[in-house]
Amino acid sequence: MSTAEVSNSSLAELVSLRGRRAVVTGGARGLGKAIASRLAEAGADLVIGDIEEGLAASTAGELAERYGVRALSTAMDVTDAASVADVAARAAAELGGLEIWVNNAGVFPAVPLLEMSEETWDQVFAVNARGTFVGAREAARQMAAGGKGGVIVNVVSTAGFRGSAPGLAAYVGSKHAVRGLTREMALELAPLGIRVLGVAPSFVPTEGNMLAAVAAGVDPDDMPPTDLMFTAPIGRGGVPDDIARIVLFCASDMSAFMTGSTLLADGGTMA
Ligand SMILES: NC(=O)c1ccc[n+]([C@@H]2O[C@H](COP(=O)([O-])OP(=O)(O)OC[C@H]3O[C@@H](n4cnc5c(N)ncnc54)[C@H](O)[C@@H]3O)[C@@H](O)[C@H]2O)c1
Repeated sequence: MSTAEVSNSSLAELVSLRGRRAVVTGGARGLGKAIASRLAEAGADLVIGDIEEGLAASTAGELAERYGVRALSTAMDVTDAASVADVAARAAAELGGLEIWVNNAGVFPAVPLLEMSEETWDQVFAVNARGTFVGAREAARQMAAGGKGGVIVNVVSTAGFRGSAPGLAAYVGSKHAVRGLTREMALELAPLGIRVLGVAPSFVPTEGNMLAAVAAGVDPDDMPPTDLMFTAPIGRGGVPDDIARIVLFCASDMSAFMTGSTLLADGGTMA
């Protein structure tokens, strides 16, 4: 069980995910790919689910070859509950079980509040908040059926703790929702041996947010944007693997006594 007392385990055993099965939503690129890479390196077999099917397939192929694990890929839209249920069922059936689910897929369009439509608001919430709820629900159903417990990790954001930048009202609202959901699901799923944790990154350059920054008017010659990158007290900008290692900690037995928390992965930005 993912909540078992593990103080007699060696460090190598604690961090190992060998024999565990994971799903990473939005795992084809960006933070999701970095997360999937560390989970695979730790020995997990996994499914990369992403709306970009071709990219998911190439990421899965890369990880299987590099780490010698089983890595499957599938088209997945986290706004479509049937699609999410299929991925959870497929992971359990084809990999033989499901113990780790990372709700990483997310969108972050920047639209000033006075111009923001209800459609934009609904779309952001459908992916970031409802997608996390549905993903967790389907994962928990499979984990409960498997009887071994499990861990659900939600990729939040420092925008789940405070306002972010102009234009991100829907994003900030959705990430606050995910942080609240993380706490509530932790209470409700603990009796099933399922832990729920959040990881909240500050700005990390990825394919997705570089495109979003340019769309929001940031100078393409100032990429990654210096004001976002170098204000962290830690003295450098974050990279995807900074976030992936913290997700690995959450997914592994290293964090067996934790549930409900959202860990800041922010170089001290929120300190
Ligand atoms: N990069 C950052 O600075 C940062 C900071 C805080 C939080 N986050 C969060 O991290 C997560 C990943 O962000 P990223 O920067 O890697 O973005 P990204 O755009 O590079 O990657 C997101 C992935 O999710 C996929 N995706 C989008 N909509 C989907 C859907 N409906 N169903 C399935 N997959 C879908 C995309 O195809 C893509 O592969 C998001 O939840 C984001 O809010 C990112």
